Amino acid sequence: MAGNWKMYKTAAETTSFFEKFRALVERSEHCEIVICPPAPNLPAAIAGAQGTRVGIGAQNMFWAKEGAYTGEVSGAMIRSLGCSHVIVGHSERRQYFGETNESVLKKTLAALDAGLTPIVCVGETLEHREAGQTEAVITDHCQGGTSGLSAEQFSKILIAYEPVWAIGTGKTATPEIAADAHRMIRAHASSAFGQEAAKSLRILYGGSVKPDNIKGLMAQPEIDGALVGGASLDPISFASIVNF
Ligand code: PGA
Repeated sequence: MAGNWKMYKTAAETTSFFEKFRALVERSEHCEIVICPPAPNLPAAIAGAQGTRVGIGAQNMFWAKEGAYTGEVSGAMIRSLGCSHVIVGHSERRQYFGETNESVLKKTLAALDAGLTPIVCVGETLEHREAGQTEAVITDHCQGGTSGLSAEQFSKILIAYEPVWAIGTGKTATPEIAADAHRMIRAHASSAFGQEAAKSLRILYGGSVKPDNIKGLMAQPEIDGALVGGASLDPISFASIVNF
């Protein structure tokens, strides 16, 4: 279960989130828990999560190891803080910051190189869905974002299916729609990396996941977890998603 805080919370708010959240997930051993705060608050999150099973991830990184790239951070910098994960290719980054399949692939490889687990995001817009292009877009994102990976590298990544029309809109994909898309992702993984790789791939659903719809989503065997935006900002709400 992963929380994506997007551009919300100060360092002090991060600390107070963890003061409450720690106790609420103390006994939650059925899943991995990851929270991805904005980059400046990674140290506060890591300190807040110390001694718990909660992993901390970044929301983005650059693919170069170092260099004259004003405003960017590298995988090694994130890793050296104590982060375990990084989100790559979130639709908001594709939409507003020019992220492409090519940059997603480069960042995924760089994240693996730095010892981070990339959460690679794929998903169609409403226009794609209405034009019957859902499968084509999902396949294109999977293909473009993972085609340069070896089977061993592929076994270390997570994929998040996030239909753009469901993100922050309150419109969750039905469990059936989400499961259908997850099957497409698994089918692509199977043809690119083999059946075993597809079977062990973990695919998270993201898009308006809330405490009251998580059970239905997780009842689908195809859905292995969730990437939660808005509902991960409140400790009680995110804990009730984790402890669905
Ligand atoms: P949301 O965001 O849960 O607020 O829809 C999900 C995401 O973008 O990761």
